[in-house]
Amino acid sequence: MTKINDLIKKMTLEEKAALCIGASPWTTTPIERLGLPELTVSDGPHGVRRVADVKDLVAASLPATCFPTASCMASTWDVELIHAMGQALAEECIALKVDVILGPGANMKRTPLGGRNFEYYSEDPYLAGQMAASFIAGVQSKGVGTSIKHFATNNQEFQRLTISSEVDERTLREIYLPAFETAIKKAKPWTVMCAYNKLNGTYCSENHRLLVDILKDEWGFEGFVVSDWGAVHDRVASLKGGLDLEMPGPKERRVNAVVEAVCSGALGESVLDESVRRILSIVFKAAETSKGGSFDTAAHHALARRIAAEGMVLLKNNGILPLKEQQHIAVIGRAAEEAHFQGGGSSHINPIQVDNPFKELQKSAGDTELTYAEGYPAGTAFDQELIDRAVEVAHTADVALLYIALPGFKESEGYDRADLDLTPQQVALIKAVTAVQPRTVVILNNGAPVVMSEWIDGTAAVLEAWMMGQAGGGAIADVLYGKVNPSGRLAETYPLKLVDTPAFINFPGGNGEVRYGEGIFIGYRYYDAKEVPVQFSFGYGMSYTTFTYKNPKVSVASFRDVDGLTVSVDVTNTGKVAGKEVVQVYVHDHKSRLVRPPKELKGFTKIELQPGETKTVTLVLDFRAFAYYHPAYQQWITEDGEFAILIGASSSDIRCIQTVTLQSTLELPCLLNRESTLRDWMEDPRGKRVFAPLFQQMTSQMQTAFGGSEGEGAGMDTMGFLMEMPLLGVLHFQEAALLMPPEDLVDGLLAQVNQNK
Ligand code: BGC
Repeated sequence: MTKINDLIKKMTLEEKAALCIGASPWTTTPIERLGLPELTVSDGPHGVRRVADVKDLVAASLPATCFPTASCMASTWDVELIHAMGQALAEECIALKVDVILGPGANMKRTPLGGRNFEYYSEDPYLAGQMAASFIAGVQSKGVGTSIKHFATNNQEFQRLTISSEVDERTLREIYLPAFETAIKKAKPWTVMCAYNKLNGTYCSENHRLLVDILKDEWGFEGFVVSDWGAVHDRVASLKGGLDLEMPGPKERRVNAVVEAVCSGALGESVLDESVRRILSIVFKAAETSKGGSFDTAAHHALARRIAAEGMVLLKNNGILPLKEQQHIAVIGRAAEEAHFQGGGSSHINPIQVDNPFKELQKSAGDTELTYAEGYPAGTAFDQELIDRAVEVAHTADVALLYIALPGFKESEGYDRADLDLTPQQVALIKAVTAVQPRTVVILNNGAPVVMSEWIDGTAAVLEAWMMGQAGGGAIADVLYGKVNPSGRLAETYPLKLVDTPAFINFPGGNGEVRYGEGIFIGYRYYDAKEVPVQFSFGYGMSYTTFTYKNPKVSVASFRDVDGLTVSVDVTNTGKVAGKEVVQVYVHDHKSRLVRPPKELKGFTKIELQPGETKTVTLVLDFRAFAYYHPAYQQWITEDGEFAILIGASSSDIRCIQTVTLQSTLELPCLLNRESTLRDWMEDPRGKRVFAPLFQQMTSQMQTAFGGSEGEGAGMDTMGFLMEMPLLGVLHFQEAALLMPPEDLVDGLLAQVNQNK
């Protein structure tokens, strides 16, 4: 710290300003005079995209391992595996001379149409937070930095550089911030990348509340905030807003603007110094890890294959999988010959090698005859001949494997998806093949949900193989042949149709803003609350074995919020092969003052069990597992009462329920004010104490006036009517009978409430 403070004292104003803007698209400004090195950053998140020439924004990148994209990573529900991937990425960063990898992406999947959803983990903030934290911890354990992105509410590509995400405070706190919050508090990323968009009217790059009040002050983030590439509009405003490093550079104009602002007094030098201090601390930290050398490409390829296999989700299986001794397999679909393994945009990796799915299948298939048919052309063209040929091949085979990949351009940074459909040719192909060959397995390569209701009934099995990384071809074969027992679980809901999705009528917005009208109800929170049937639920995935859950226990039946509790359950593998199960714990609040989702994920773990083996799984639920964010109190609150703890194999497959009683230890300020209704007064214990006598008097007067408790006179329930009236409003009607003005009366009651606190 002294070293940094001394250095800041020695720096000229120009040097400070220059340090806060990149020297090139991928490096910070070195100051040779003071021995300050540059810092090199490279894209991620599922590989190292180290451009050969850092002076070039879009130069070709050096070969690196392309791991599965985030949708697949999250579907592993395996924090240790993600940690291992982080370590492997760090080894590649070191070899490729990269100090900070630009990932992970922790934005929520608000709608399955989001163009970059393949780069993000989940529709659930708890799962996304655990994954992001583990990724960061893995990378940083090797002395390489991360940049968690895109902070915040960057949930679509439509007008991505300018749109304002209009999000209410509770939704922000409960849905869009927690993955960042968890990762930042738990794993301390070296840097945070601010989003392009505006949040409630202010660019994230200038958003003091977001970058300073919440991120730095409330969460204690100690690293530096870097802009997304090109997210800065006004350099001085962004420094004031808490944005430390602008990228990409060089931008002399910006350096000059900062210098001038300090000279004119428009920008306090201490604000600049604070950003300089943050950047310097990371530059020095990065310099502690010496760079260069090589990495174990074979080991990383093997790890990529493991992650891909663990993340693949078996969605349907009538028993056809794992494949047994077949005489003849029809292998249909371009994706068998040309792996579709990553999405478009800044995360695009130059892979070291790419497994060919067909050849990998051959290795596992032994003597089985494999016949290939292309099935569908590249892009979205329609070619009936390819379908006819595929049908011929499928017809005479014992089994058909249909490798279906969404056309590459459909999922990319920069624009959203237009629909959730496979191409018309792919749908026609699946229908035609399944019509002649009921033993058909569909293998999907995509980064986000596709709709299936038109064709799934005809299939024997469906495997979601994601954008599976460079080793995914082998991973598919591992799963099909049972070398790996599938254990991936969906990190997002698969809807039946696009119109069912939570943000459907509020997406993508227009006229410069997108209103998050569905609020806290995204993903399964919405489908559960509205009882909307879905194709596959959040948390769902099949295995080649079966698991039972028994003996659920909670450490205490009644507990204080600050103490939390532990929940345990015995899980047994009741099938014939070893397998992995993801045990999921959701919390349901029986009663709350503000509406809450029917259930929310608050814990999970992945365990491996041999046939017949039982393990006891224990999970901790803390204060936050039971709390919700109350915008009026501006804090996370708990309320006394009963909660159900739901232990299950998916969000719709709850196996055990335990009921517990929470005692809140919070002493919350009284929210009563001049606008509070009679209901508010009577529901607030402190309000009720002072108001109850008056309440009795008022209600009997009103009932007399309106005619009886049923209110026959006015044709209504008088009490129901009254309870929603502000106390002040009711008093206005009774003004003639009052001894003082209604305002004084209410203020007097409020004073008594506040005295009694
Ligand atoms: C993307 C970021 C990326 C950056 C640098 C931006 O367009 O939004 O995710 O890290 O470019 O390539």
